[in-house]
Amino acid sequence: MVERSGQYPISRLRRTRMQETLRSMVRETELSKRDFIYPLFVVPGTGVKKEVSSMPGVYQMSVDQIVQECREVHELGIPAVIFFGIPEHKDEVGSGAYDDNGIVQQALRAVKKDVPGLMLITDVCLCEYTSHGHCGIVRGNEIVNDDSVELLTKEALSHAHAGADMVAPSDMFDGRVGAIRRVLDANGYSTLPIMSYAAKYASGFYGPFREAAESTPKFGDRRSHQMDPANSDEALREVAQDIEEGADIVMVKPALSYLDVIYRVKERFGMPTAAYNVSGEYSLLKAAVRMGWVDGDRVMMEMLTSIKRAGADMILTYFAKEATRILDTQR
Ligand code: PBG
Repeated sequence: MVERSGQYPISRLRRTRMQETLRSMVRETELSKRDFIYPLFVVPGTGVKKEVSSMPGVYQMSVDQIVQECREVHELGIPAVIFFGIPEHKDEVGSGAYDDNGIVQQALRAVKKDVPGLMLITDVCLCEYTSHGHCGIVRGNEIVNDDSVELLTKEALSHAHAGADMVAPSDMFDGRVGAIRRVLDANGYSTLPIMSYAAKYASGFYGPFREAAESTPKFGDRRSHQMDPANSDEALREVAQDIEEGADIVMVKPALSYLDVIYRVKERFGMPTAAYNVSGEYSLLKAAVRMGWVDGDRVMMEMLTSIKRAGADMILTYFAKEATRILDTQR
């Protein structure tokens, strides 16, 4: 219930806005670098650091470069990263995803050893590993659910073996959270948390990511498993189901066009809630800044603050390092 404020001229809402000290004392939402999860793209090779053309400031990096990057991220005070892997070879069943010597598994081992204080999350999906770019196995025209889920459980377990601190299934197949939970539990990882991409929409905002992850589907799209942007009651059903299956943190993705969904999810479930400030949201701002049309730092902080204000406890964002530098100078 919103309290009724008194009537003008007794009430003057501008009084608390007249000077910065008081403005900061009445500020309701405080962004912190401890909220950030920084996405990283791992590629084969050594000494590779290749900028993603549609995402200025974001790079594909080989394991050695990832280690350096993780050192920097940790020193900045950002608590966590999430790894996406681009394998040497892709095939029909995405076997690079659950190969114990796969690209993400290598990155996990190297970073765990070098930067033990950093929390390592892995994206669990097959789209970066399949030759057709789909998130699971394709038979005829169908992206099949249950057999794909089995492969995802293998991927999650393999990440756990390699040192992941948390796994994040991003496929949106039915039943995957429960299946992953059971496999992790059966293998001694009952305390390893799952952050589920619980309400993930079939969004045009993933465009630049698919360049970064080389995961554009060769045919068709993801609408048979990712959600229709028009729906939010359904998002609550998705989230409820993932919680029942054992999700520890639930994610809404993308963030900015779905702030209402973040709000509803947080209100309804009171769960630790993450929001993914996705590639297209990043690129849109970077492009506008290049054109000289907006103040990049200001709009970035406003975007991130709005995601937190909507109810997100943590934000996966390509802005993590830039925003941290700004937050650090504000102290
Ligand atoms: C799937 C995955 C995607 C993103 C994160 N995990 C792409 C997709 O579903 O097509 C998108 C993230 C972004 O756009 O920043 N592995």
